Amino acid sequence: MAIRLGDTAPDFTVDTTEGEISFHEYLGDSWGVLFSHPADYTPVCTTELGMVAKLNEEFAKRNVKTIALSVDPIDSHNGWVSDINETQGCTVNYPIIADPDRKVADLYDMIHPNADNTLTVRSVFVIDPNKKVRLTLTYPAATGRNFDEILRVIDSLQLTDYHKVATPANWKDGDDCVIVPSIKDKDEIEKLFPKGHTVVKPYLRMTPQPNK
Ligand code: BEZ
Repeated sequence: MAIRLGDTAPDFTVDTTEGEISFHEYLGDSWGVLFSHPADYTPVCTTELGMVAKLNEEFAKRNVKTIALSVDPIDSHNGWVSDINETQGCTVNYPIIADPDRKVADLYDMIHPNADNTLTVRSVFVIDPNKKVRLTLTYPAATGRNFDEILRVIDSLQLTDYHKVATPANWKDGDDCVIVPSIKDKDEIEKLFPKGHTVVKPYLRMTPQPNK
């Protein structure tokens, strides 16, 4: 069954390029990004895995651990990692799950048979420290993902969780945010948003980004 927002991310134990990993234990108190690839030694995937390696510090700053998956075996992953490091100018610094029996791919509904019967689609799952799924995203095989957008969504989720603001259309880091509708009390608003706020409509209250 498809995984939906708010579900607990299914746990699993698998072989990875960094040894055997139990997913929930690996995540610990961190946020997580689990992302899948159609196959090893494919061009778009090579650029994507390189990009995630190069964004390692950005993920770490946000307390996010990344983990990739493809349905090929460990030996294949290990050879491919050398190519990724060589061609993308990076060091792959996160585990890649080997899922030749498609245990995790099936658990996370990463194979969409009407697109391709054997390969995983480009899925992304963002998981919070309570192991709840907070973002699901599915890209077609020939379209590389925009990992800046995934970081942007993580920033938005963390602003909501830690600062009680939502983010408007096309929001970028540093832009004004939206006070979440559940906060109604004027005193609470003044206390939570000392930088001030603007009431555009009673249901649309803007405030400077709280953590800037
Ligand atoms: C790739 O992963 O590079 C890819 C997969 C399917 C079609 C085109 C590219």
